[in-house]
Amino acid sequence: MQLVLDQNGQKTLAADVRVVSAFQKSTTKTVKGKATTEATVSVDHWADKSLKEEFAELRAAKNFKAGKDEVLTFTAAMGETVKVIGLGDKTKYKAEDLRKTIAKCVKALKAEKFTSASIDLHSFDVLRDTAHAAELIAEAVGMTDYSFEKYLSKKSEATLKEICLTGFEKRKEAAIRNAVAHKALLTESINVARDFVNEAPNVLRSTEYAKLVEADAKKHLKGVKVKVYTKAQLKAMGMDMFLSVNAGSAYEARMVELTYEPAKKTKNTKHIALVGKGLVFDTGGYSLKPGANMMNMKYDMAGSATVYGAFRAAVLMKAPVKITCLLGITDNAVNAEATMPDSIVKARNGKTVEILNTDAEGRLVLGDVLDYACDLKPDGIIDAATLTGACLVALGSQVTAALGNNQKWIDTVLGAAKASDEYMWQLPIIPEWSADMKSKVADLKNIGTPMKAGTATAAAFLQEFIKDDIPWCHLDIAGTADGAGHLPYCPAHGASGLTIRTLVHLLMHTK
Ligand code: BES
Ligand code: MN
Ligand code: ZN
Repeated sequence: MQLVLDQNGQKTLAADVRVVSAFQKSTTKTVKGKATTEATVSVDHWADKSLKEEFAELRAAKNFKAGKDEVLTFTAAMGETVKVIGLGDKTKYKAEDLRKTIAKCVKALKAEKFTSASIDLHSFDVLRDTAHAAELIAEAVGMTDYSFEKYLSKKSEATLKEICLTGFEKRKEAAIRNAVAHKALLTESINVARDFVNEAPNVLRSTEYAKLVEADAKKHLKGVKVKVYTKAQLKAMGMDMFLSVNAGSAYEARMVELTYEPAKKTKNTKHIALVGKGLVFDTGGYSLKPGANMMNMKYDMAGSATVYGAFRAAVLMKAPVKITCLLGITDNAVNAEATMPDSIVKARNGKTVEILNTDAEGRLVLGDVLDYACDLKPDGIIDAATLTGACLVALGSQVTAALGNNQKWIDTVLGAAKASDEYMWQLPIIPEWSADMKSKVADLKNIGTPMKAGTATAAAFLQEFIKDDIPWCHLDIAGTADGAGHLPYCPAHGASGLTIRTLVHLLMHTK
């Protein structure tokens, strides 16, 4: 589906359906000495006078109160269908409400088999910033326009071919065009990441995944350096802790390293490292997951897809920072050579780790990759990982957990999440939880006390691999990586594509 601009209204004349908004106003009247509040509809903001008149005379409109998500559909004089979308109380309407309204609207337009639609931007410019409204609409359209149907014999028909934005001043056109183009790059990258995450684990092997990322980067990201490290190379780099997860697998581990440098690089240009957990499948290893818990473990590579998606969008949008993106890729499988519990391995940074549970594998992969990231001396590191089931217990499937070693850096990440309307909440790493990760027979063990602060003890483990006090923020996306059915612009099942917007916001605004 295409989102195009229609400043002069030509495309709107031919569109199947026109979408406009209406607000609800509460007016208090005194009837027989009694004050009663009544809901009335406000369409004062419609630019089209004749449409306003038609609406005023519409009999069906008398029951329409423009409450949030209330929709009135009518046929106007020119024969076009008009959808009036209720936004509720104008003073309470926020940016995220606009994304949700548009997402629901796009779904309805698809369901009703319209082929083209025109959205009156002016009427949705609730926040009085036209380019911002266009941005929000573009984001919602791009994120909603996604489905994973590769394996369906019968694919849904994509009837809605074009949505145009109309109802804005000529002098704003350039800004709107720029905003829409940026969001198209963003949502395209979100959807690339979703495709990776949704792909079946018997198709997306570690080796295959690394190849796909490399191919996508080579095709779309001009000037980006891509290195794919093989198992032998990772071994030579001392990543035995990472490789212990790969020991039982028929497929080799990979680490992908992508580097982007902005065109105008100075000595003040910041360098951000993104690190992602890329477990193409997590059986748990010898500490095998029970069947019900193993289901959906193809999503265990969502961290890597998230950071790659963010990297991709930031590069396409010409972010002003240097970015290194590191993906730790393997599956966690079982065979005779698989790492058994009680094993002791040596990490890249020299620390020894007692592996008491082979299902706590993400931290083993990330620990070595984070240590490597620190060697690059970035100004800040962010990792994303579906690291702990405990995160779902703590924050459900709506909120991402943020933890780290530097409050200023964590606040920067939380600020980017807030600016992107993505839920994120900080959990602490206290010295007692770091102490909980000490082993009696090695420097560290890979699990803390069962049922106690699992998300934070996992982060406390990761912190052992951050050196030189480099600001680091760990995002546990175990809850938010898939099944974001609470958001109309995310698929109810499968990869959500969340957290990418937060990371992109941060990368675009780092100075
Ligand atoms: N990939 C899982 C975490 C997970 C669980 C993600 C559920 C999404 C949904 C991770 O590798 C894992 O198995 N963690 C263990 C750690 C435990 C053994 C300390 C867990 O959370 O149970
Ligand atoms: Mn696991
Ligand atoms: Zn895992």
